[in-house]
Amino acid sequence: MSASPAHKFSNPRARYNFQGRTCSITGVGSYVPAKILTNAELEKLVDTTDEWIITRTGIKERRLAAANEFTSDMGAKAALRALKRAGVTAAQVDLIIVATITPDMPFPPTACLVQQKIGARRAAAFDLEAACSGFIYGLEIAQQFIMSRTYDTVLVIGAEKLSSIIDWKDRNTCVLFGDGAGAAVLQNRPQAHGLLTAVMGSDGENADLLFMPGGGSRCPASTESVNARLHYLRMNGKETFKNAVQAMYTAARESLRRCEIDISQIRCVIPHQANRRIIDAVGERLGAQPAQLFVNLEKYGNTSAASVAIALDEAVESGRIQRGDLILLVVFGAGLTWGAAVIEW
Ligand SMILES: CC(C)(COP(=O)(O)OP(=O)(O)OC[C@H]1O[C@@H](n2cnc3c(N)ncnc32)[C@H](O)[C@@H]1OP(=O)(O)O)[C@@H](O)C(=O)NCCC(=O)NCCS
Repeated sequence: MSASPAHKFSNPRARYNFQGRTCSITGVGSYVPAKILTNAELEKLVDTTDEWIITRTGIKERRLAAANEFTSDMGAKAALRALKRAGVTAAQVDLIIVATITPDMPFPPTACLVQQKIGARRAAAFDLEAACSGFIYGLEIAQQFIMSRTYDTVLVIGAEKLSSIIDWKDRNTCVLFGDGAGAAVLQNRPQAHGLLTAVMGSDGENADLLFMPGGGSRCPASTESVNARLHYLRMNGKETFKNAVQAMYTAARESLRRCEIDISQIRCVIPHQANRRIIDAVGERLGAQPAQLFVNLEKYGNTSAASVAIALDEAVESGRIQRGDLILLVVFGAGLTWGAAVIEW
């Protein structure tokens, strides 16, 4: 396989005469719930203003799942759209990976509920928890299965009902998040390089910057834990912000270095949609032009594992990404976790 001169790059996977199959995204899809929660409506819930939210975050509105709509429902809808675009039937899916921090239940895996909802009877299924970084972690895991010829078709889904773990009395966090799902079908596409590299990292030293204290084995649900509001996410916004910019920049640089390319060769940078100021700071440090950055957070806020998946789908649908383009995904989340992936689309 030879790269066209305009897209000259090195494929890190092809070093050491490695004979693995390449792995491409052959279809993407997304789903967001119908209900919109605007900043003006949040003004009635907590002491905040539309102006504060827009200037500090860039978010104008977010989607909220219905009371009877769960992470698996949104994930299944996004998955069916991705399968349709890829021209793949549910019966062809070998493996389903759902990245989420808001599973329908602690167990069974939400991936199994999605498997049932889309009718992917042959598929193995499991959940992946890497917070907002889960979608890139999922792509890399899926890629390993395809590269090794273990599976032919893997579905990676990022899906979240974050509204179920948001403290609607905490203005520091409730203005930031929303619900939704995005999905990608991964397969070998002959003659394509696909997922060239994925950088992943973590830092458990800073686990307390963004976490949910209750509901796990450390603090199971009790009357006391509910009264103490321990089943909602908590965040140190300022420190999270600083770590996000540094980690996203470093991961993105490393992914470009591995492929021996410059940021100017990237058609579209799709960053985790947490805060417009984080995206701009990372873009500026990378030397990206504003037009290279894909941003949709004004509509959805931060949808955690679904964020980059939804953005990728919208970037493809709007024609911002064409086959053969090089794209860069960059994520950051609780853990801390982070990642960056370069894909020849
Ligand atoms: C949360 C965030 C927007 C706050 O912006 P910031 O510039 O750091 O603002 P500060 O934390 O300095 O807060 C400034 C003031 O605004 C107040 N404030 C916080 N939320 C507010 C809101 N929704 N409306 C109005 N005021 C608010 C704070 O209480 C603080 O008031 P004080 O100075 O009287 O204490 C920002 O820190 C952020 O985006 N962090 C990263 C969050 C993130 O992306 N998390 C997910 C990672 S995956």
